[in-house]
Amino acid sequence: MTTDPVRWLWAALALVLWLMTIALVRWSQARARRAAAARSAALAPAGDAPPVLVAFASQTGLAEELAWMTARSLSDAGTPARVVPLGDLQPAGLKAAGCLLIVASTTGEGDAPDALSRFVRQSMKAPADLTGLSYGLLALGDATYADFCGFGRALDGWLQRSGAVALFDRIEVDDGDTGAVRHWQHQLDLLIGSTVQADWTPPAYDRWRLVERTHLNPGSPGGEAWLMAFGPVDHAPAWVAGDIAEIGLPVIDGQPAPGSREYSVASLPGEGRAEFIVRLMHRPDGTPGLASGWLTRELAVGDAVEMRIRTNRSFHGPSPETPLILIGNGTGLAGLRAHWKARAARPHGGTWLMFGERTRAHDAFLDAELQAALESGDLTRLDRVFSRDAGDGRYVQKLVSEHAADLSAWVDRGATILVCGSLEGMSKGVQAALEAVLGTERLLALTEAGRYRRDVY
Ligand SMILES: Cc1cc2nc3c(=O)[nH]c(=O)nc-3n(C[C@H](O)[C@H](O)[C@H](O)COP(=O)(O)OP(=O)(O)OC[C@H]3O[C@@H](n4cnc5c(N)ncnc54)[C@H](O)[C@@H]3O)c2cc1C
Ligand SMILES: Cc1cc2nc3c(=O)[nH]c(=O)nc-3n(C[C@H](O)[C@H](O)[C@H](O)COP(=O)(O)O)c2cc1C
Repeated sequence: MTTDPVRWLWAALALVLWLMTIALVRWSQARARRAAAARSAALAPAGDAPPVLVAFASQTGLAEELAWMTARSLSDAGTPARVVPLGDLQPAGLKAAGCLLIVASTTGEGDAPDALSRFVRQSMKAPADLTGLSYGLLALGDATYADFCGFGRALDGWLQRSGAVALFDRIEVDDGDTGAVRHWQHQLDLLIGSTVQADWTPPAYDRWRLVERTHLNPGSPGGEAWLMAFGPVDHAPAWVAGDIAEIGLPVIDGQPAPGSREYSVASLPGEGRAEFIVRLMHRPDGTPGLASGWLTRELAVGDAVEMRIRTNRSFHGPSPETPLILIGNGTGLAGLRAHWKARAARPHGGTWLMFGERTRAHDAFLDAELQAALESGDLTRLDRVFSRDAGDGRYVQKLVSEHAADLSAWVDRGATILVCGSLEGMSKGVQAALEAVLGTERLLALTEAGRYRRDVY
């Protein structure tokens, strides 16, 4: 054992910093819970009737929004309701609820949202005792994925094997299908014996105007990527780093095409504009993707779009004191950029960006901005790889393995890891590399503590 007092001092300092980081993380989690509890309390004022519990399992925020709409509709119709994240409940809490409404989405390849990892691992590993529990389940999914509503279906099976009784058949929503959501509202009517708000307000879009569009990667061997900036027309909504914009599809033959596309917001409200990095996609027949083709080729500066920015709680960042590791590829830089901007020009616990693209010559997205951020200290460290460069050929997950010791040290200091970009091409490789460096159990623990978060698509 060392007797060097300087080493002891450093060790003590590291311990104090570590304890302070843990305290800060706990404090901010408790604050978020208190805010949600206060909003819930407003929907379930103290009275005789026990509130209906509305639980959500959400990756990118839609299921959470629908859970709040459900609770608000019940409350307006005189039935108190309380909203909770499903992942915060234990089987005993589910059983005690008596009546439970769940809105659950599926992510990955038929997987549960990240925040549910502990629930799936611990509560769903075997049937529980849920006798006496009645439930209704709204499962969100997209039928273009092989395992449609995979998590909703698994959850339904587990609830039934555990002795809970379905109030009505599971309702599956394919890509936000409004008919299925109306069916859910109808079941709520039957449940409470009165009419809940007849039609839920469709997403309130704001009008924004394209103010700037810059081609980020001329000459790239990959698809065109564009930095697009929109200014608000009517009013500017508030959002935070990690949130997602839904952009309404273009007008075709005089009619707006139904639906929207999602894009990670790359800027903050204080900048007065919403920025995105949009990749031009192509369909199998070679024609441009509906939204990306329109946004990058047809929309002119000055033209208006319909857009709303949605809370995406599962990709919000930690407090500035917490060290932050940002990992991504391609257009994933957008979601990461909002995070380093959010803690820029103020003291922070360190921000380390690892980014991968195709070629240094053509795909070093926002290079000048990244260099300036490094110089100003907004970024503490920048590591990039270029998979098509001779002499490089690495993908971003390689950076995780190559810098394993530093990454572990950052995580020991309390770092949060945020991953943004492609699901197939990047996030699985990064996950495997993180597991190899930190161990599967530790990565699971980080996921459960909200210190490993993803916005992958
Ligand atoms: C949470 C989230 C965040 C996102 N963030 C970003 C972002 O920051 N930047 C970004 O560029 N994108 C982002 N996306 C992706 C974006 O929402 C769109 O999916 C993308 O722009 C393509 O939309 P599109 O309308 O241009 O293409 P579409 O016309 O919808 O086609 C999309 C793709 O589907 C496939 N496809 C279409 N039709 C067929 C068919 N008939 N048969 C087989 N395959 C078909 C093609 O491969 C095509 O490339 C995000 C997605 C999500 C879910
Ligand atoms: C990366 C990604 C993976 C998805 N995987 C599936 C899937 O395997 N099965 C499915 O039915 N839907 C899948 N979906 C569709 C989502 O379930 C659907 O968009 C849902 O509305 C998202 O709700 P949320 O915002 O609450 O997470 C996926 C969506 C994304 C972005």
